[in-house]
Amino acid sequence: MPSLVQRAMSFPPLRSVARGASNWVDLQWSFMIDQLKEVAPLARGALLDVGCGEKPYEWIFAPYVTSYLGIEHEGTFGETHASVAAQAGKPDLYYDGAKLPFADESFDTVLNVQVLEHTPEPQRLLHEIARVLRPGGTLILCAPFSFRLHEEPHDYFRYTPHGLRAMCGASGLRVDEVRSQGGLWSVLGHKLNSYLAFRVAVLDAVAQAMGKLGHEGERRRSPRYWTMPVVLPAMGAISASARLLDRFAPDGTETLSYLVIARKMVASASAA
Ligand SMILES: C[S@@+](CC[C@H](N)C(=O)[O-])C[C@H]1O[C@@H](n2cnc3c(N)ncnc32)[C@H](O)[C@@H]1O
Repeated sequence: MPSLVQRAMSFPPLRSVARGASNWVDLQWSFMIDQLKEVAPLARGALLDVGCGEKPYEWIFAPYVTSYLGIEHEGTFGETHASVAAQAGKPDLYYDGAKLPFADESFDTVLNVQVLEHTPEPQRLLHEIARVLRPGGTLILCAPFSFRLHEEPHDYFRYTPHGLRAMCGASGLRVDEVRSQGGLWSVLGHKLNSYLAFRVAVLDAVAQAMGKLGHEGERRRSPRYWTMPVVLPAMGAISASARLLDRFAPDGTETLSYLVIARKMVASASAA
């Protein structure tokens, strides 16, 4: 039986206000969307979103590309809430997670957002991505450095910029840029807010009702309403403080995630 707040989320104006506030408080989401908007003009031609989930970034990239195709690993996607509730969009294609069902050099741009930690063979996925990219084509990839366990049991790795460069290089991809998504204070703030949201206020089913946490299995627990007058303002204050502290006392040895821009090297096309 859906809770009162879950039912309220089926009312579009309320969902939109709640989702907007939640997106700002969710530092990882907020930084990633901002960065994807910044780099979207690098995308062109035919774009493949590998591990697209609900295709939540299509609206950002669509103005810059001629086609946008989203593909998902059938097995892992089938275990997520997004597979039954997709509110943003559905994958266009499914595959077995091993070999992308496309000819070599089929795409100008590949997007791969928060997927590399979910495959037990990340180098193999990067090889496949490099194979389907045209020479000179662009990979836009996001992978977490510090993030709680999620989408279990399909959560295998975390990444450093050096590891991402080495792995891209091994697949014939030259890294042009690595950007961090927040610093120490955002990591601390995000972890504290996750604890408050999911452990104290038990907001995971509400988050799914507003279109978040789609990558997790279905959540059914009712929220703890009595915690909300304290927890919700505290989360807003934590998020605002983390943003300010990251700006005025930066520590780049910690971050939530990295965004990588890489290009397929022309000479190494056959090595991939
Ligand atoms: C955390 S979700 C991210 C989904 C989407 N990219 C987003 O940012 O909302 C990770 C996704 O990776 C998919 N995945 C796992 N292994 C994969 C593989 N080998 N190829 C493509 N997708 C994969 C999962 O099914 C899941 O939907």
